[in-house]
Amino acid sequence: MTFVYPSEPLAVVPPSMAPRPRLTFVGTGYLGATYAICFSELGYEVLGLDVDEPKVAKLAAGQVPFHEPGLDDLLRKNLAAGRLRFTTSYEEVAEFGDIHFICVGTPQRADGMAADLSFIENAITSLAPHLRRKALIVGKSTVPVGTAEWVQHLVLGNADPSAEVEVAWSPEFLQEGFAVEDVLRPNRVVFGVKSDWAKAMLYAAHKGVFELAATEDREVPVVVTNFATAELAKVAANAFLATKISFINAMAEVCGASGGDVTMLAKALGHDARIGNRFLRAGIGFGGGCLPKDIRAFQARAQELGVGEALRFLSEVDLINQRRRQHIVRLAAELLGRSVGPAGPDLRGARIAALGATFKPNSDDVRDSPALSVVRKLSRAGADVTVYDPQGTENARIVVPDVTYANSLPEAVADADLMCVLTEWEEFRNADPIALAKLIRTPRVIDGRNCLDAALWIRAGWQYQGMGR
Ligand code: UGA
Repeated sequence: MTFVYPSEPLAVVPPSMAPRPRLTFVGTGYLGATYAICFSELGYEVLGLDVDEPKVAKLAAGQVPFHEPGLDDLLRKNLAAGRLRFTTSYEEVAEFGDIHFICVGTPQRADGMAADLSFIENAITSLAPHLRRKALIVGKSTVPVGTAEWVQHLVLGNADPSAEVEVAWSPEFLQEGFAVEDVLRPNRVVFGVKSDWAKAMLYAAHKGVFELAATEDREVPVVVTNFATAELAKVAANAFLATKISFINAMAEVCGASGGDVTMLAKALGHDARIGNRFLRAGIGFGGGCLPKDIRAFQARAQELGVGEALRFLSEVDLINQRRRQHIVRLAAELLGRSVGPAGPDLRGARIAALGATFKPNSDDVRDSPALSVVRKLSRAGADVTVYDPQGTENARIVVPDVTYANSLPEAVADADLMCVLTEWEEFRNADPIALAKLIRTPRVIDGRNCLDAALWIRAGWQYQGMGR
């Protein structure tokens, strides 16, 4: 069932008797911190919990522990307004909240492709025994289908039965770099519920979102469904996005072999409204803490369910994506006139400026970053790599410590034999090719994100190599 505010008639009194349900967010990583801050901005009383004491102290002091545009200001504003607090105490969370959103991580397991659900298990078994009155536990983390049922089972085994705690699932679709906007102005919300009470509580918890939309003459579609569909809504969306990116990257391979230009091809495809022009940017592929691990966990779960064949194409999506990273190293060898031996390209002694370390711009996240993976491969091929990233250096250093990090774009490019653009930061897109040509030893550029104006760079004397063009 889909409905749009304000047609939903249900009203509900929160168990705490507060005028609006009090919300808690368990796990204040990227997802939980963003939600906690944005929902306090919408006027809710919010308590965020994390087991990581330094992280909680930082948030409570008004510092967001990661880079997300606009979030710092909202954090400080809502801390000052007294609507937002952070704690490490599950007891306090249980006492305070009507709705507990579970926002902990579900990383890939070390021993395979499946998702590691231990953080969810810890969160539920730590929270449930403290619940003394009715409450709703809502899963937000990305999980294998079937997890919500298991969570309900865990709650039943750990909470006081007289509290009648219920479970629901409401996946999130926020994108890093646009997270504030995506939470305050979602393009849809999904409620996986088993009772009218859970539905009404979720509705009340999102009233601020619906009201904001109404003031802007927008509507937020609400899909109310069962647990399994709600869980699938998230992983299916990410699988589709990953497939779309790998599709255009596969076309880039074909363009490379046939003289086509994948950026023009994407334009031609995108004009068809059935296909659409978003997520058709060819380049070095997708990364981050979500898409790569989600398509793997989805395959693992499908295998368990006996429908592994249905998702076999996702392993091809993954392979296409991995090939993009290696492709840059081969392009570098070609441009530098280096040989490719049985052990791969030989880049010994070549000085390469790598622009970008994060998995996408406007983020300091380097998890499964294609940019850093390319840096590692270039360095392993013998190149002397200098990396510059506007926000990601601190995190990148931890993952790839054995390359040089520059403090500025000119510093990275100075005296290099080749420059590779690996993340499409605005600073790189707007860089002046004439000024940089004076700094670099030989003006050669690989545009790993097809984000530069090729004609402009060629006019400025650069040897330009895009991806699939
Ligand atoms: C992704 C989804 O887009 C969100 O909807 C979802 O909520 C989130 O995962 C999640 O599961 O939490 P995010 O990881 O922030 O969001 O990043 P995306 O914007 O999806 O980009 C993923 C990767 O794909 C990046 O490395 C990006 O550079 C790459 N990409 C994206 C391309 O290579 N080409 C494109 O056309 C688009």
